[in-house]
Amino acid sequence: MTAIQGAARSGAKAQSRTSSAAAWSPSSWRSRPAQQMPAYEDATALAGAEARLRRYPPLVFAGEARKLRAALAKVAAGEAFLLQGGDCTESFADFTANNIRDTFRVLLQMAVVLTYGAGVPVVKVGRMAGQFAKPRSSNVEKVGDVELPSYRGDNVNGFEFTAEARQPDPERMVQAYNQSAATLNLLRAFAQGGYADLHEVNRWNLDFVRNSPLSERYHDLAARLDETLNFMAACGLTSVTTPQIAETDFFTCHEGLLLQYEEALTRVDSTSGDWYDCSAHMLWIGDRTRQPDGAHVEFFRGVRNPLGFKAGPTLTTDHLLRLNDALNPANEPGRMVIICRMGADKVADKLPPLIRALKREGRSVVWSCDPMHGNTVTAANGKKTRHFDAILSEVKDFFAVHRAEGTHPGGVHFEMTGQEVTECIGGAVDITVDNLTERYETQCDPRLNASQALELAFLLAEQLKAERLSVARARAVG
Ligand code: PEP
Ligand code: CO
Repeated sequence: MTAIQGAARSGAKAQSRTSSAAAWSPSSWRSRPAQQMPAYEDATALAGAEARLRRYPPLVFAGEARKLRAALAKVAAGEAFLLQGGDCTESFADFTANNIRDTFRVLLQMAVVLTYGAGVPVVKVGRMAGQFAKPRSSNVEKVGDVELPSYRGDNVNGFEFTAEARQPDPERMVQAYNQSAATLNLLRAFAQGGYADLHEVNRWNLDFVRNSPLSERYHDLAARLDETLNFMAACGLTSVTTPQIAETDFFTCHEGLLLQYEEALTRVDSTSGDWYDCSAHMLWIGDRTRQPDGAHVEFFRGVRNPLGFKAGPTLTTDHLLRLNDALNPANEPGRMVIICRMGADKVADKLPPLIRALKREGRSVVWSCDPMHGNTVTAANGKKTRHFDAILSEVKDFFAVHRAEGTHPGGVHFEMTGQEVTECIGGAVDITVDNLTERYETQCDPRLNASQALELAFLLAEQLKAERLSVARARAVG
């Protein structure tokens, strides 16, 4: 069969799996069943907030989203690696320059380490500047005898356990927009204004290694990186002569859950005539809202941003194919990121059939691993937590599955912060159950702290490097 016949065949199949490609508009999602959306009581207040957001400037430019799509196309082709990370949920209370800077800094540090390990560029996408809306497993939260609506993220309702705070308030969307705008402004300044200089990032990493209990283990990689930078400087490649050393590309993403907000920020790009959701460069659909005929899939199929969807253990191959067809009918490289969050004990069984199904159909996707959401447990003291070892184990199995299937493990997706919180257990800093109450600051899921996140990057870099060498060896022998 020729490639063209193959493409025509998979196109015909795509057509039969999706309901007819009916007309799309930014509001066509409104006639579909929508999961996890708040019920606003005051329709006039909601319409007012939406109207204001529609008049506000877009937060990102379509050209930037296209640049990310091109970078992700390289990831899909095995020529780059994706690093996505940030808070489970951003909050109005923790909105400070230091928090933004510290998360950005750790992501840069991780990216440098991963670049060295993978030997390919690392595409950096922060769960930042818009990651506010949260899906919940229960509509209500009970404390003692009191039952209230669940907290759904700061752009919907308040975290405080009072009836008043838990009432969805559309004005919160406007505050989330303003916070996102200010966060993006600072991120752009950091990325392009000299803060992201590779020499600085390297110095922070050397400090981390010096102070880590596993200093010996990480020393080798850090020292080689340092030598490489010195060698480059000796060759005349410095931040003054080479802009790539002084600045970096940094993109933003969040879960596209609150569709009223996403719709209000969706605009026609004047240069291409296409629709873009200008609230972030990349959006993903959560594990609870990825129904192929549901409102979220309907909304996102019509915007041209790079998209993701979460693949949890209940995702069947049929469902996966329908989703992929609906969201990426033209099989455009860089459009689709599949964010797997199976759980450490399930990934080895659940992932291979999904990979094979898309491979069979000749579909281009980025495979990314979210080792956080399938590994949440409740500690003896009632705190939601995750074990560092389970997180590492899921990523390692994800890599192993791809090695066996001959596909590219394209990236990782972490919930993490630049602060030294005590929310996840383990790591070289060895957070124990007893430590959890010391700095447990998340308003939703437990995050890796700065040391744990960076340690994970060092461990993954070792893994990626071994992988790269074994591929090169196999090629040389073959
Ligand atoms: C999340 O990424 O915060 C999240 C809720 O993930 P999932 O949809 O995979 O449960
Ligand atoms: Co989460």
